[in-house]
Amino acid sequence: MTMDLEPFKKLIKQRCGLILEGLGEEKLATVLAQRLIVTKFGNSAEYYFHLQESSDEFQDLVNLLTINETYFFREIEQLHLLTERLVPRLLMQREDSQPLRILSAGCSSGEEPFSLVMALCEKYGDDVSSLFSFIGGDIDTQALAKARSGCYNEFSFRGVATEIKARYFDHDGWAYRLKDKIRNRVEFLEMNLFAEEFPAALHGCDIIFFRNVSIYFDTPTRRIIQQNLASLLKNTGYLVIGTAETIANDLGVLSLIEEDGLFYFSKGQISAPVPAGVPVFDFSRYVPSTVAVAEQSYIAELPSVQCSPPVVPSLPPEECVAPLVEPSNPCFSIEEVQQYCCEKRYDEAMALIAMLLEQKPGEASLLLLRAHIQFNRKEFEQAEASARQALETDPWSIDAFVLLGLAAKWRDLVKEAVSWFKQAVYARHECWLARYYLADLYRAGGESDKARREYRGVLQLLSLEAVPDHGIKVLPLAVVHSELRFLCEHQLGKLGDQQRIARRN
Ligand SMILES: C[S@@+](CC[C@H](N)C(=O)[O-])C[C@H]1O[C@@H](n2cnc3c(N)ncnc32)[C@H](O)[C@@H]1O
Repeated sequence: MTMDLEPFKKLIKQRCGLILEGLGEEKLATVLAQRLIVTKFGNSAEYYFHLQESSDEFQDLVNLLTINETYFFREIEQLHLLTERLVPRLLMQREDSQPLRILSAGCSSGEEPFSLVMALCEKYGDDVSSLFSFIGGDIDTQALAKARSGCYNEFSFRGVATEIKARYFDHDGWAYRLKDKIRNRVEFLEMNLFAEEFPAALHGCDIIFFRNVSIYFDTPTRRIIQQNLASLLKNTGYLVIGTAETIANDLGVLSLIEEDGLFYFSKGQISAPVPAGVPVFDFSRYVPSTVAVAEQSYIAELPSVQCSPPVVPSLPPEECVAPLVEPSNPCFSIEEVQQYCCEKRYDEAMALIAMLLEQKPGEASLLLLRAHIQFNRKEFEQAEASARQALETDPWSIDAFVLLGLAAKWRDLVKEAVSWFKQAVYARHECWLARYYLADLYRAGGESDKARREYRGVLQLLSLEAVPDHGIKVLPLAVVHSELRFLCEHQLGKLGDQQRIARRN
């Protein structure tokens, strides 16, 4: 049942530099299992062959593997470095009136490049449009689609001052839509940092932000990527890397500079340092009076520990229209957690779940979503514990039975897995998903008759005009009926299902 991941890891590293070890490898296994079902390839070798040939499939796979964690005004001190040091110096040095070109490389869903725009708007007001051009580049086309939409929810903020939100976003229920004057400032482009060539639009950058991306590459790959980024910079350009990553990226490609206790890389020599506190460039021309005092205020509070439940600023209840889980938590709903799960934003989902569980300990749906995330992270024991906890509140939860079955199946605890799937079927005969897993387990264990019986049962249920509800209420499982039907047919064919063969002939 185990898949040889090595060829996939190699191909992905070769094409986009990503190293998939540890959790990354576990994620690869989960994602490949999903893709095998969706693409209907019988085995991983066939799928691998297809993956090599099809750029669309490769893109779909990469989209599922990337980690898109980001939020507005992340590492605020580096934004101050931008507005107070790098930009003034470059504006002072420039010899023409061309806008400074600023790239966010690995921009994910856009929070970083839009933060750069907002930070500079705070300083330069409407002149931002003539002084700067902004590009966001990422390999993940889904993240780029979200970035282009400019639509976010509370979790993209984590402590941004209310007045900044009000100034740059339209708030509509749970959604925060960036105002067009900010959204239209950034051009988003597909970009593979590990590519051999880059589109012309990415060349000639004055500043590149490349933060929280290099951690996914090994040192030789980092060096190649840094050389690529250096080639996109003008000779006077700067590269800003996440604070925790800077030292690991001091690879002799660009010069490491320290200024105001912050590090960044420079392509050329710094000829005209901007003395602290004395603006060499005349900022006042660019600071509209209405925002002049707001310079320090776009972050109300920095999150202290990223992984613990973030400080979520509460909104007045009348601003929220999303379904409520709990009156004292007016802005967050289970649907939102489910949405995060669908978008693979597990850290945010977990933080929200932890917060909601404090309000409603033992809430089965939250525990199940937690189990779902743990399962997807291959933390099978934790997933099992969460699902069992859910059963304490809801002893007939089909979601819990199926999850427990899957967690056991992945640990090769076949008897246990069979027993959980059987429980699901006992509680709900029409649970075709549990029956499908049962069939698979029987087939793998050489119990062909039982396997055939279950595959046929699933086919029967899925062939009904109105496919019966499988009883799974909370878990965001995306199973396409036609694909599952195909798999059953396929397995029955391999098992030599005489009944079906006869019926077909
Ligand atoms: C954790 S996010 C960082 C987002 C943002 N820079 C920040 O600091 O908040 C990492 C991003 O790097 C992107 N990425 C990973 N490998 C890439 C590659 N080879 N080329 C371009 N982008 C890549 C991922 O798709 C993901 O969106």
